[in-house]
Amino acid sequence: MDEKMQQIVALCKRRGFIFPGSEIYGGLTGTWDCGPLGVELKNNIKKQWWLSMVQSREDVVGIDASIVMNKTVWEKSGHLKAFTDPLVECKICHSRFRADKKEEIENHEKTHKDKVSWTEPKNFNLLVKALFGVLEGEQSEVYLRGEITQGAFVNFENVVSSTRVKIPFGIAQIGKAFRNEITPGNFTYRSREFEQMELEFFVENNDKEADKWFDYWKEQRMSWYAGLGINKDNLRFRKHEDSERAHYAKYAEDIEYNAPFGWSEFEGIHHRGDYDLKAHALNYVGENGEKYTPWVIETSGGVDRSMLFFLLDSFSKEGERTVLKLHPKLAPYKVAVFPLLANKEDLVKRARSIFENLKPQFMTAWDDRGNIGKRYLAQDEAGTPWCVTVDFQTLEDETVTVRDRDTAKQKRIKVEELSQYFQNKLT
Ligand code: GAP
Repeated sequence: MDEKMQQIVALCKRRGFIFPGSEIYGGLTGTWDCGPLGVELKNNIKKQWWLSMVQSREDVVGIDASIVMNKTVWEKSGHLKAFTDPLVECKICHSRFRADKKEEIENHEKTHKDKVSWTEPKNFNLLVKALFGVLEGEQSEVYLRGEITQGAFVNFENVVSSTRVKIPFGIAQIGKAFRNEITPGNFTYRSREFEQMELEFFVENNDKEADKWFDYWKEQRMSWYAGLGINKDNLRFRKHEDSERAHYAKYAEDIEYNAPFGWSEFEGIHHRGDYDLKAHALNYVGENGEKYTPWVIETSGGVDRSMLFFLLDSFSKEGERTVLKLHPKLAPYKVAVFPLLANKEDLVKRARSIFENLKPQFMTAWDDRGNIGKRYLAQDEAGTPWCVTVDFQTLEDETVTVRDRDTAKQKRIKVEELSQYFQNKLT
């Protein structure tokens, strides 16, 4: 693993962003748990996505569909047949790889002294099976959703009839998806359980509308990542080749991130045409009573992948400082409050009351261990944008120092203005 990836994996474990799933029992490949800082970062990513895709728009509504759906959904959507990856097996050690991941195959070949030969590629279905019901023998086989998307399609008519949406409009959703990935890897990048954030945007069934909205959503999504601090040089679009497009897509482009393990898919923008609504025999009745099947432009991003790329992009080493320069809106804790000295009762008392006051408004950390320098370093590593220190001057003039994570500079601010100061920075 690349050095930067190793540093990120270690930091995630040390500071409580991401832990290996079921770790005390040897783990479970392709699963990861969020720790106390990780859950905050993840929630903040989802909150910002919802704010931009649902709350601030009039033409998008949200849903939250079930993870387990009637098996027919997956028959009709084509996933039972076509949601596959090409699998090859090493004839020496029986390790399995995706046939299209040439680099991983080449790396594997290097681990054998002898020349490696491979089985012919065969299609491996990625849907994860489960058993549903209470009576043994009568339990029905179901699938955990391989994409959250189908929940939006099967509820299309419910959404149209229960809201005032009119085409063009979108259905947004965030939730877990599951795939039996052949080779999970690159930390959380390719997992078997992960979270997606998706928009299915329904448009009139013609190329002009579809192309217009495809371009629109491409730009929106790209600027969302850049607006939350991802360095623009680390972002690019990449058109899908005909051979790699998913079975439902007429046309697709990815937003990619320049990860230490190479340019990698961040989010997919897909022109799904009428594939899904037709498959589920769903229609729309237009303004003039005409019945037709709308086309769909989809934006499909990964919450866990976003988390990994936001962490990688914000990670920097400055001398002895390791800093996560996360956008303040994403930072797990916004503020940390310290008494300058932990053994001075009046400083601790004043700092505690400032902490108690800020806490309901912002995620606020308390630290009175070690010296101030060490506390700053600890907060830099957690990505906390501002540290408030209560010192002797505070007791005289009701001001505190506020230290900025990125510049390491401090300024004095009146205690009564603190809340507004942070509020302004966060809007
Ligand atoms: N509904 C369309 C769809 O699911 P996709 O390109 O297969 O399209 C969309 O997945 C996004 O979901 C990806 O861009 C990625 O961010 C995330 N994703 C997909 N597979 C993943 C995996 N195994 N682990 C983590 N994230 C994954």
